[in-house]
Amino acid sequence: MTSLIPVGISGMGRYVPERRVPNAEFESLLDTSDEWISQRTGIHERRYAREDELTSDMGAAAAREAIADAGLTPDDIDLIICCTVTPDYPFPATACQIGHKIGAERAGGYDLMAACSGWVLGAFTASQFVATGAMRHVLVVGVEKLSSVIDFEDRTTCVIFADGAGATVFSPLEFAKRGEYLHGSAGMRGGTEDILSIPAGGTRLPASAETVAKRQHFIHMEGRQVFRFAVNTFADLVRKCVEGHTLDDLGLVVPHQVNMRIIESAASQVGISLDQVFVNIDRYGNTSAASVPIALYEAREAGRLVEGKIVSCVAFGGGLTWGHVALRW
Ligand code: UT7
Repeated sequence: MTSLIPVGISGMGRYVPERRVPNAEFESLLDTSDEWISQRTGIHERRYAREDELTSDMGAAAAREAIADAGLTPDDIDLIICCTVTPDYPFPATACQIGHKIGAERAGGYDLMAACSGWVLGAFTASQFVATGAMRHVLVVGVEKLSSVIDFEDRTTCVIFADGAGATVFSPLEFAKRGEYLHGSAGMRGGTEDILSIPAGGTRLPASAETVAKRQHFIHMEGRQVFRFAVNTFADLVRKCVEGHTLDDLGLVVPHQVNMRIIESAASQVGISLDQVFVNIDRYGNTSAASVPIALYEAREAGRLVEGKIVSCVAFGGGLTWGHVALRW
């Protein structure tokens, strides 16, 4: 095999829907309060897409920005990996809709479903294609319209999940000049669908009047169990990112925006301060596969990505799945 080509991030984009939904809006729907939501999750508001705004519309908006940021045109994109659990259709893949909307005529594409770990595993995958020379420019889109699968009668989930999109172009480092891909990982534990899933609509429980009546097409989550898994996995993944380095080499952790208490507990387990962690959950809630690429984009905008330092992207979620991508900025 020929030697691997160093890989970097050549462009980033983000799209968040216009509609802001403050915690107070839930007070009239359910037995909850702004105080409970902000104290237990760190969320103050989130964004919801319009009814006619599709997952692919949000993904395409973020993708256009990422491609322009890279100084490329849609024609330069070889592959689109769309990471989502809220596709436009069960099939075809939302990657095809995004490719069509942005005019990426040459690109291949497919969806990657790994829930909240989606973008991280997509980034890990994209980097391998570029590193081997099989592809030159790979677009990874993390996008969700979770407002379409939220049960607004379930106060334990509906206040958490939200909509948005982040997109990243992976290219040879000599072209990208920044965001060098160092290494990544992927993990999973099956048999856990009882604690985080949309129970119906697949082959196990095809859609029927009964599944609709039982509200089984909405997200179901055993929050406490996911909480424990998330804290431990988060900490392990950050340690993996800095293996062979010291914590001084760590510039910023850009984690899945899951819950402020989870972020605080994991940071204290690893022994880093919250200044070394990027947080925007207060403004966007949990946008699943979109959360890390939106956060990475905003971390760059805020000047938080320090040249030469390690950026640790870590995520975990339904599957259960988890993964990391370590970058050097
Ligand atoms: O992205 C990956 C997937 N998601 C996650 O990783 C989420 C992980 N889990 C969490 O973030 C937290 O577990 C939640 C935010 C979901 C819940 O927080 P918690 O502190 O674990 O609450 P709990 O489930 O232990 O519930 C405590 C109480 C319960 O009442 P009782 O049984 O003690 O009377 C809940 O019914 O809080 C109640 N509760 C609420 N109260 C007001 C749950 N949701 C709400 C709410 N408003 N929205």
